[in-house]
Amino acid sequence: MKLMLVGFGVVGQGLAMILRDKAQDLEAKYGFEPKIVGVATNSRGILYNAQGLSIDALLTAIQKGSLEHYPDEDGLERDFSDAVDLIQGRGADVLVEVSPTNIQTAMPAAKHFQTAIATRKHIVTANKGPIAIGFSGLSQRAKDANLQIRYEATLMAGTPAISMGLEALAGCTIETVQGIVNGTTNYILTEMENGLSYADALKQAQELGYAETDPTADVEGYDAAAKVLIMMDTFFGKDLTLDDIDVTGITQISQEDIDSAKANGERYKLIASASANGGKVAPIRLPLSDPLAQVSGATNAITFQTDLMGAVTVSGAGAGQKETGFALLADLLAIHRQV
Ligand code: HSE
Repeated sequence: MKLMLVGFGVVGQGLAMILRDKAQDLEAKYGFEPKIVGVATNSRGILYNAQGLSIDALLTAIQKGSLEHYPDEDGLERDFSDAVDLIQGRGADVLVEVSPTNIQTAMPAAKHFQTAIATRKHIVTANKGPIAIGFSGLSQRAKDANLQIRYEATLMAGTPAISMGLEALAGCTIETVQGIVNGTTNYILTEMENGLSYADALKQAQELGYAETDPTADVEGYDAAAKVLIMMDTFFGKDLTLDDIDVTGITQISQEDIDSAKANGERYKLIASASANGGKVAPIRLPLSDPLAQVSGATNAITFQTDLMGAVTVSGAGAGQKETGFALLADLLAIHRQV
């Protein structure tokens, strides 16, 4: 399977490391032999080699600041104007779209998706923009072309959430989905309760690779809202926009609020919910006896309320380099099994 990566930040590098470290296992257990043939970044270079690029050399080059440090080799091409030029002009089986998310416009990722579909590439992504905004059009075009778009990484990193609702619970009617879907804010709220300042907790969440490139989306609730839009589309077939969702983040929650909740045996959590009637994101003060109050750090949890199974809750990592890298791997393996 030939992969073209667009974006080579925390998540893209995470996938590359997993593919390098698990290469033998993936081949032995699943007959899966992926090759990275192309990598495009916005300002740190673009590379393509139909024979496959060296993952070690890619990681070394990007650590030095640019793919320009990738050594010359037979078949290497560097001369591309942008990611669209690469996707348009060169072959691969799958576009792995992991460029920074824009949840207002979905660009440029949506353009990358369109170009991949037009040039017959499956898509695996961690990019919430094009799944949250205007997905039904892209999804239909992919279906018409017999191509897959898989996006497990967009909701709770590699913790099965999309595949849980769509595949494991297929046959159940999902009535509501509710839970904690942003790792950064959950980490900040947890650490503030442990005595860290808001600014230090946010800084740590950024250093740990949980936060978005612009963490405003996390702390103001828009990352969680984008995930609500993804749930609305995926589980309820509703194509909404951010304007349709009631969004409150955690920036108005003071240290005093957190201390006063703690003194009363309560805890603030940023709760996202979705149902056929719409979606919402808001901080809620929960009693410690509520299972969601016990979900700490960058862990996420969602509960599917269903007709046949009642409540089914999934909890696990919601952000992080290897956790999101794994989500992409799970989707690549799903394509490998099916195609
Ligand atoms: N910034 C996101 C979070 C990353 O903190 O949950 C995972 O989508």
